[in-house]
Amino acid sequence: MISHDMSKQLLIRGGSIVTGEGITQQDILIEGERIVSVGQGLAAEAPRARQVEAGGLLILPGLIDVHVHLREPGGEHKEDFYTGTCAALAGGVTTVLAMPNTNPPVINRRTLKEALRRADAKAVCDYGLYVGATEDNAEEAARLGEAIALKMYMGSSTGNLLVDRFSGQIAHFKTYPKDRILAVHAEDEEAVRHYASGGVRRPPICAALGVARAITLAEQTGRRLHLCHVSTAYELALIRDARQRGAQITCEVTPHHLFLSTEDERRLGDLARVNPPLRGAEDVAALWEGLGEVDMIATDHAPHTLEEKHSAVPPSGMPGLETMLPLLLTAVHEGRLSLPDVVRLTATGPARAFRLAHKGAIAPGYDADLTLVDFDAEWVIDNSSLYTRCGWSPFAGRTVRGRVVRVYLRGRLAFEEGRVRAAPGSGRTVRLGQAQI
Ligand code: NCD
Ligand code: ZN
Ligand code: ZN
Ligand code: ZN
Repeated sequence: MISHDMSKQLLIRGGSIVTGEGITQQDILIEGERIVSVGQGLAAEAPRARQVEAGGLLILPGLIDVHVHLREPGGEHKEDFYTGTCAALAGGVTTVLAMPNTNPPVINRRTLKEALRRADAKAVCDYGLYVGATEDNAEEAARLGEAIALKMYMGSSTGNLLVDRFSGQIAHFKTYPKDRILAVHAEDEEAVRHYASGGVRRPPICAALGVARAITLAEQTGRRLHLCHVSTAYELALIRDARQRGAQITCEVTPHHLFLSTEDERRLGDLARVNPPLRGAEDVAALWEGLGEVDMIATDHAPHTLEEKHSAVPPSGMPGLETMLPLLLTAVHEGRLSLPDVVRLTATGPARAFRLAHKGAIAPGYDADLTLVDFDAEWVIDNSSLYTRCGWSPFAGRTVRGRVVRVYLRGRLAFEEGRVRAAPGSGRTVRLGQAQI
């Protein structure tokens, strides 16, 4: 019999728990940082537990966003590990995987250590850090066990990370450990430049060529591949074909490619500039229809200041952490997907694909990362209430339905009623676990 420290028990009562399978009204008993049981009438089992009433609220597993840019070091005027993870909590996100295209970029042990040190001191949600691929760091990147995964920019984007030559690409596909994730920004650099010289921004053929090349490299080297920000019907078709041949491919879609299109570019101007670009209505419809084949939604939260976005050379990227869940919940109200779909795409799916230990489910043994939502609350997205340091959203002015009211991170109240409660440094690195769920 295990002795329980009753003072550290927390009972969340009467909420409607959403899993990938369905919705049930149950209590959640938490001891320390972990969920110890889920069921009905748990108060009898834990008479001394501190109780929190969650009747009328939805409880989702804390969201996991595998693609964010937190800009530290080097871009702290747009975001840092504190402001970016505050934005995550405000969006119901309890785990983020941060990209390496910082300044300097995270490409070796020294820069990874420095980024981890800063995250450890400032993050208010859990996090993992990517290491970035360069033309010649395949051996070193493969040895960096503290990095959650490898990120390769086959096409250029914000920052100076780029591996567009075959020699660099094949080295990483061959050398990076086969049980780890190699994530690719798959736009073909030569095609990108070809079109740019004619004043055209990254048409769909750029992504098509990039994805085809990445899939070929993965299949020929017998390794898994994660495709970032898939944005067109053609990419989905390539992924479908590769999977039929047995290739191990996972992919993500961003909220902006689902909830915005080229139509919005006229209204938003350079705020809508992003890599890969917003797509036309047909591709957007294909992404919605293809969500069943998509492993996860990831924000590609890419903050830039308004001043930068309105400059002569506007950078690509837009923030997304605070708006992903409200947009998805609104889509549920509209009948475009279900609550279990939302949980699969934002928690179960990413935890499984990235093999994150103890994350992504509301079940005994898992971290008590919980996002409590008022599903019916209607509100208007407003720049003035955002936590992201860049201070704007492409979705400002949109009416959404569904609001994050409380977030628990490993059993501790981290966000409540619009306010971050977690102290800087309370976030921790995530670990790789067994293949799960
Ligand atoms: C990202 C950024 O700004 O870091 N920009 C973007 O347009 N998506 C980089 C990236 O994900 O490609
Ligand atoms: Zn990218
Ligand atoms: Zn990105
Ligand atoms: Zn474990």
